[in-house]
Amino acid sequence: MIRSRITGIGFHVPPRVVTNHDLEKIMDTTDAWIVERTGIRERHFVEGDVGSSDLGIEAARKALADAGRTPADVDFVVFATTTSDWMFPGNGVIVQEKLGLGNVGALDVRNACSGFIYSLSVADAFIRMGQYKCVLVIGAEVQSTGLDLRTEGRDMAVLFGDGAGAAVVEPSTDGSGILSWALHSDGQFARDLWCEAPSSRVPGRVTQAMLEAGQQLPRMNGRQVFKNATTRFPEVINEVLVASGHTLADVDLVVPHQANQRISDAVVQRLGIAHEKVFQNVQRYGNTTAASIPIALTEAREAGLVNRGDLIVLAAFGAGFAWGGCAIRW
Ligand code: UT7
Repeated sequence: MIRSRITGIGFHVPPRVVTNHDLEKIMDTTDAWIVERTGIRERHFVEGDVGSSDLGIEAARKALADAGRTPADVDFVVFATTTSDWMFPGNGVIVQEKLGLGNVGALDVRNACSGFIYSLSVADAFIRMGQYKCVLVIGAEVQSTGLDLRTEGRDMAVLFGDGAGAAVVEPSTDGSGILSWALHSDGQFARDLWCEAPSSRVPGRVTQAMLEAGQQLPRMNGRQVFKNATTRFPEVINEVLVASGHTLADVDLVVPHQANQRISDAVVQRLGIAHEKVFQNVQRYGNTTAASIPIALTEAREAGLVNRGDLIVLAAFGAGFAWGGCAIRW
């Protein structure tokens, strides 16, 4: 039986660290508020003319090296981001060109926080159907340039960071690899975490009035996100476990999308799983949207928490609302 296995992972964050104390200087917030409500202590922001494709390419190079592959081996690219360099084309073609991948296909996924899991499921399907043998999956975001760093925007601004992670996905026949995944959405909540402009509904795509109202920046109903996330995370984790024929007791590590420590704590409580079985690094990166799972997965492996044969569960929830999960025999 052919499965698809993650054979290499890597991440890259821009060097500039922005602490909660740095944010205290530019808006009415406090380190204590941010730590208590989110667990976040610092995040990375780009400087100068750096786009999400640049971060993604660095992460991709590391993932390829980790897999022992070169750009010549890659036969398809899936790039997950909500913050692509341009409205179109998407970042996939930028990676294709800059990494010198030849004329391979490049697909862009815009599913925000669940983008990496959606992308992984695409790679898995292509590999299992025999279409491709080496798929490069990237999640990368530059959120900082879309944050309102004044007090008016503090509810969003303290949460997000920039970064990228990548995975190389290849066929496996030894029983290891992706065992199951589940994808869901509920568009009735689309306006609870969204960025309205630029919009095809608007002649000229964006008006001065929209710019003045900040409609080109992401907006969020934090409480609605929180409420849904704490229900959907445990639900989808259980769903992928049942689909793979396992129970929570079999799980070695859950690597959730890193949105907020309080969300992860609530998931730990609802699942009744040991705290140390749910990986957290939101403290140092904030919410990096599509990049957070591959960043967390790489750090978890570096910490010795992801080993061959382990049962790893990934789960994500975010804008859409869209959410998903994935069970992997590492
Ligand atoms: O991938 C999904 C991405 N989104 C998320 O993960 C967000 C999920 N939501 C949350 O984590 C929480 O809703 C937040 C952390 C965003 C907010 O926490 P909350 O407990 O829901 O706070 P709140 O929005 O109800 O605001 C409480 C108070 C308000 O002041 P008043 O009205 O009580 O005087 C806010 O104005 O906290 C104030 N506030 C802040 N104060 C200091 C909001 N943002 C800040 C801030 N610093 N950054």
